[in-house]
Formats: sequence, structure tokens, C-alpha cells
Amino acid sequence: MRRDETDIADCRTGRVRWRSPRLGGVHQGCGRPSPAGRTTLTRRPIRRPIPALREACVTLFGHDLTDSAQLRPLEPWQAGEFAAYVDRVRPHLAPWLPWAHFIVDADSARNFLQRYADTQSQDGGRIFGIWVDGKLEGGALFRIFDVPTGVCEMGVWLSPDAQGKGLVTLAARHLADWALKVRGMHRVEWRVTPANDRSIAVAKRLGMQYEGTLREVFAFNGARQDLEIWALLATEQA
Ligand SMILES: CC(C)(COP(=O)(O)OP(=O)(O)OC[C@H]1O[C@@H](n2cnc3c(N)ncnc32)[C@H](O)[C@@H]1OP(=O)(O)O)[C@@H](O)C(=O)NCCC(=O)NCCS
Repeated sequence: MRRDETDIADCRTGRVRWRSPRLGGVHQGCGRPSPAGRTTLTRRPIRRPIPALREACVTLFGHDLTDSAQLRPLEPWQAGEFAAYVDRVRPHLAPWLPWAHFIVDADSARNFLQRYADTQSQDGGRIFGIWVDGKLEGGALFRIFDVPTGVCEMGVWLSPDAQGKGLVTLAARHLADWALKVRGMHRVEWRVTPANDRSIAVAKRLGMQYEGTLREVFAFNGARQDLEIWALLATEQA
């Protein structure tokens, strides 16, 4: 490469394209023009994304939780990022979330995300990520979203470092608002093991009511687990 040439990243593919500052160019992923406004010349694809440039790219369908945190759909094409995230925080998630055990690589992450893409296409369950400063740090999902009965169930997770800032409460409140106010759902459920104090605290912050405990309802981590049911009704929502 000549000295006056620079690599730029295509945010859709992570491929690096060649550009000469002397001629200028257009970032073909983001459409950001360079000073001279000429079209980019493709040189050779490199499958390694450049994080700083990816963050500068336009994202679709995001909801800002704070100045630095965003809630966005988490889709099958992000399987590699999701698998790396789960790997990074597995010990933190594994006591509470079954999928933290079976998402072990990009293929298993893609299968998991594809199932949500499929249910979403039928107006069922959906999954979202929480990005902080462009880094995946958590998420939220509608494990169940059953429009005919008006009942949905949410789940949430965060990296240890992203805890304590209200991110999941903000995300879950936004999703519950959407379900109850926009989609006309009647009931948002929260199922949690009694030992999970932080998750129960989120349910309380959302204004959910404790309804009871399903005793030893599922086998997980070598024991049969109880599950508390918390819920928010459309008629109770602020
Ligand atoms: C459950 C889990 C997502 C909760 O995370 P969390 O950080 O406690 O929850 P929030 O993001 O809502 O943050 C709440 C904290 O931020 C504080 N906070 C700051 N600003 C806030 C705001 N605007 N709104 C609400 N809380 C705010 C709260 O006081 C609270 O602090 P505390 O922990 O000192 O009481 C997290 O512990 C986790 O990922 N656990 C592992 C996976 C898991 O258990 N998932 C749930 C399975 S049912």
C-alpha cells in the first residue's frame, strides 16, 4: 500500500476498502463522503471489522436509553458478536440463564438468534441487545409474545460492569410500554428464581406485582428450580 492510502471499513460487511485521500471517496457502508467526494475503489476484502469505524456507522431502529447506551434488535448477522459477548460474561449469566450454557460459538448463537428472528416474523418473541459506547453489554427479550391472549414474558441480562446504572430497568420499561401501550398487550410477565435479588429488584422497579411461586418447575444447574411469577397489567401501568 502506498503511504497516502488509507483503509476504511464497510459497516455492513466489516470489509476494508481502499481509498486515496488525494482522490477522496465515499464510505460505501455508511455513505459518508470524503473531502473530494469520489467513489471508493475496492481493493481486497479483509474480514476483520474495525471497531472505531463500525461505531460511526448508522444503525437501524435504535432506542437511546442514555447518552451512551442504546437498545437495538439483536439479529442473526450479529451471531459472532453475541457469541463473543456470552463467552466474555458466561460465569455471570450461567447461574440464571439456560442459554448461557449452550451458546458456545457463532453457530449456536446464530441458531438462538434465528429462532427469535423466526418468531418475530410471526409477531411472536423478539430479542434486543444493549450497546454501551458501541460495545454489546447486555440485552432484553420477549421470550413469549402471544398477541391472541395478550400475554408476554420478558427476560434481561447485563455484563457485570454495566450493572448498577439502571440500563435494564430503562430497557425493560421501554419494552413493557411498547407491549402494553402500542401493541395492546394486557399482561407482561417476569419469571425469576427466588435467589435472583437483582432481577426481582428490576421487576419491582417496573411496578410489577408478585403473584406466586411455581415450585420446582424446571431442572437447571443440577437441581429443580422454583420460579417466582411477577407481572404488570395494562390496567396497572402508570
Ligand atoms: C438482572 C440484572 C440485569 C440486573 O442488573 P442491574 O444493573 O441491577 O439493573 P439495572 O440496570 O436496572 O440497574 C439498577 C441499579 O442501577 C441504579 N440506577 C441508576 N440509575 C437508575 C435509573 N435511571 N433507573 C433505575 N435504576 C437506576 C439502581 O439504583 C440500581 O442500583 P443498585 O444495584 O445499587 O440497587 C443483572 O444483575 C444481570 O444481568 N444478572 C445476570 C442475568 C440475570 O439474572 N438475568 C435475569 C434472569 S430472570
